Amino acid sequence: MQRPTILVTGANGQLGFELARLLAPHGDVVATDRGRLDLAEADAIVAAVRGVKPDLIVTAGAYTAVDPAEKEPAVAHAINGRAPGILAEEAKRIGAVLIHYSTDYVFDGTRATPYPEDAPTAPQNVYGASKLAGERAIAAVGGYAIVFRTSWVYGLRGKNFLLNIRRLAAERDELRIVADQIGVPNWCRVLAEATVRVVRSGLPALAERAGLYHLSATGQASWCDFARAIVGDAKTPRIVPITTAEYPLPARRPAYGVLATERFEATFGFALPDWRDALARCVASPIEPDVVG
Ligand SMILES: NC(=O)c1ccc[n+]([C@@H]2O[C@H](COP(=O)([O-])OP(=O)(O)OC[C@H]3O[C@@H](n4cnc5c(N)ncnc54)[C@H](OP(=O)(O)O)[C@@H]3O)[C@@H](O)[C@H]2O)c1
Repeated sequence: MQRPTILVTGANGQLGFELARLLAPHGDVVATDRGRLDLAEADAIVAAVRGVKPDLIVTAGAYTAVDPAEKEPAVAHAINGRAPGILAEEAKRIGAVLIHYSTDYVFDGTRATPYPEDAPTAPQNVYGASKLAGERAIAAVGGYAIVFRTSWVYGLRGKNFLLNIRRLAAERDELRIVADQIGVPNWCRVLAEATVRVVRSGLPALAERAGLYHLSATGQASWCDFARAIVGDAKTPRIVPITTAEYPLPARRPAYGVLATERFEATFGFALPDWRDALARCVASPIEPDVVG
């Protein structure tokens, strides 16, 4: 097959940055950030896809600010709910494959065992509701779309829990961290590597596997476990477990968001590593220079 043209959105984000970099050897990547393609602008999305004529669209752009989303639901819905549907529509029009990412925050977090793809959704906050709207918009179009739900994304760039804990650890002797929310930390590079691996199986094979998959590292953690793993053996700061009630935030978080990944593993033939192994690899890796901007 000819070298595919790959349109990546949100290429300055944690995941988008890794995708743009790691997909480059496998196609002609058109990496767009907010400046080149504003996902809040429906017409701009249509024009971008019609201009680029991609074989594959990978949508890493999203409104990910969970607490601010409570105050601007219309913006969150435009970017997370409406834009994915337009991208899916445009992809379908030209027979392109779409790879999109969603979140464990589509669930209410009341389970105590991992959520399968077909578990009932019940988002607890505006961000989760907007991402669910995006999933539904893609499903309604019904083209060659793959949606990967994942959770707790971090990396060495951007805004994330790992960098917050590192910064706070340098400033304080004690960190009080929520211990009653359980999920799975996912290094953005591992998610991008998994995406590249499925893309390398070929676009026709991907088109046949269109659907919704949970893509996540194995194991589980509380935010407190995650913080302890980040701080490692250091004597300070001391990590003190607290409850969600002791750390009120504008947006409600699900108490449990572990995703069952068997469907992904059975379909694509591999599993992601344990989150602790990925974290160890992440903290030992150099920060890559910018490719966009
Ligand atoms: N972060 C998590 O913990 C998490 C958990 C589960 C699922 N996910 C999903 O995983 C995907 C990747 O997330 P991430 O962690 O890589 O997010 P991220 O680091 O916040 O990156 C998102 C990117 O989207 C861009 N963006 C925001 N509004 C835009 C707009 N109107 N037009 C174009 N680009 C826009 C942002 O640009 P600016 O920098 O200019 O705002 C940013 O570069 C998303 O679909 C997210 O919902 C994330």
